[in-house]
Amino acid sequence: MHSKNIPDVVRHPVSVTRTRRETRNGHRGAIVWLTGLSGSGKSTLAYSVEEVLHGCGFQTVVLDGDHLRHGLCRDLGFSPQDRRENIRRVGEVAKLFMEAGTIVLTAFISPYRADRENVRGLVGSGDFIEVYCNAPIEVCEARDPKGLYRKARLGQIAEFTGISSPYEVPYDPEIIVDSGAAEIGICVQRIIEEIAKRGICRFPQASRPAPR
Ligand code: ADX
Repeated sequence: MHSKNIPDVVRHPVSVTRTRRETRNGHRGAIVWLTGLSGSGKSTLAYSVEEVLHGCGFQTVVLDGDHLRHGLCRDLGFSPQDRRENIRRVGEVAKLFMEAGTIVLTAFISPYRADRENVRGLVGSGDFIEVYCNAPIEVCEARDPKGLYRKARLGQIAEFTGISSPYEVPYDPEIIVDSGAAEIGICVQRIIEEIAKRGICRFPQASRPAPR
């Protein structure tokens, strides 16, 4: 499944390159990778950041676990192997979008460091911004927006992250947001600041992040 030597498959040369697409878009492509427990606010944050970027006229897409698991990844469950394959597919799709000049926001638990690092390794340095949505499990469980923690506690869902399956906290993410306690606007602003700092896109004066 992972990329091996594939001698009989030869890449066709590309003429409409990533650079040409980015030049036309007026900004770079990038991957903003949100990771954290279920209920830690990844999707809310991803869609909120997308609103800001879209409002500025930038090309964006959100890849969300709760969506992709109904389609591209519908054959996968929650074993470590299936989660690895889930993240591998998402990483490849995110890379395709990024190379097409899009700012990609991903919202997946992505509980294993090795799987996240594999995606980071797929793309160039500077293209990947890992955002750890740091919300204590007690907060996520109290929110329980889909009632899944309750089911997991009752033993009705196996291998549930944080309860019966591990979550490996990132060692050195580009951003940590306190999505358990901080206002959503503060978390959004932190990500927008990082995007601006890296020169991925230039924000119009009005929506430019305030200096800190
Ligand atoms: S990941 O671990 O492979 O990255 P992903 O983000 O795609 O997971 O999907 C997580 C979502 O699936 C959760 O937000 C939750 O709604 C749902 N879900 C269903 N079963 C589980 C489970 N056993 N562990 C975690 N999430 C689950």
